[in-house]
Amino acid sequence: MNISPFPQREASPETIVRVRVVKREQAAQNVWMFELQPIDNPTLAAFDAGAHLALHLDGGVRQYSLCNGPQDRKVYRIAVRREEDGNGVSRHLCDSVRQGAEISVSGPFNRFALVDGQHALLIAAGIGITPILAMALELAARDRSFELHYAGRSSAGMAFLEQLRQHFPSDAHFYAPDIGDGTRMTLERIISAPRPGHHVYVCGPSSLIESVCVEARAKGWPEAQVHFERFQAELPIAQDGDRAFEVQLRSSGQCIGVKADETVAQALERNGIYVNLSCGSGVCGSCRTGVLEGEVDHRDYFYSAAEQARHNEFTPCCSRAHSARLVLDL
Ligand code: FES
Repeated sequence: MNISPFPQREASPETIVRVRVVKREQAAQNVWMFELQPIDNPTLAAFDAGAHLALHLDGGVRQYSLCNGPQDRKVYRIAVRREEDGNGVSRHLCDSVRQGAEISVSGPFNRFALVDGQHALLIAAGIGITPILAMALELAARDRSFELHYAGRSSAGMAFLEQLRQHFPSDAHFYAPDIGDGTRMTLERIISAPRPGHHVYVCGPSSLIESVCVEARAKGWPEAQVHFERFQAELPIAQDGDRAFEVQLRSSGQCIGVKADETVAQALERNGIYVNLSCGSGVCGSCRTGVLEGEVDHRDYFYSAAEQARHNEFTPCCSRAHSARLVLDL
């Protein structure tokens, strides 16, 4: 079979642009879909399935996956679940941001891209369906083999259910108490033994991601064939036992102390050095910075385990040092 590789792109440079909400509609119970169009330039930045957009709102920066299929590049399309808890950003978006509103965004970024392969096993729960939908549409457009498993608490809360049913009547499988006989998604059953060229992609609550990783590991899947996306950092950035260390700048040799209770980004800022900050929690990669010497204490969700082990880049918004000093490529 002639396999054309999926385009791979690094995260876009951090540039904040203004976009207008050109459409807003309810996609499911407690889920709203927004279509966003750049105001000054109608051309969207290029992106692939799995990409997300960072929305810069009054309550903070939040990342939302793009649900667009590959032929659908006139607007950025996101879906937002209205969360009762949290910092209120999703409530603000769902309750107050109407058609015609303007907001600031950066990206798209993509750390969840499809990789070249023979078959994709797509697994989603809840709002995690958004990047998985884009992946399914892209795989279908490329006539590539995949199967999709999508679980929810009820069919009413499952965004894009009808679209998926129509597009993928045989490749998509749905699980909710009110769907069919109420069969639950059973990872033990849907994750079989690994095969060369097969890849697993999962997006949803961290409990689902952990369960998929555990099941895949138990069945012998190599780490490089299991891909997942988290949006919200769930570990606290500060941890007991954090200690001070220092960073040295390659360009000037200047050494800057990082206190036990501050981030590297904050220490740099105290000294008039600014890195691009977006999520501030190790998710988006906007602040990534080269490391020339020292051992990083990675606390991000941006790098894979293999990338973290190289200790040649880190995210100064949250990561620290195991060594007494890091020399930064700044
Ligand atoms: S600002 Fe997002 S990873 Fe550092």
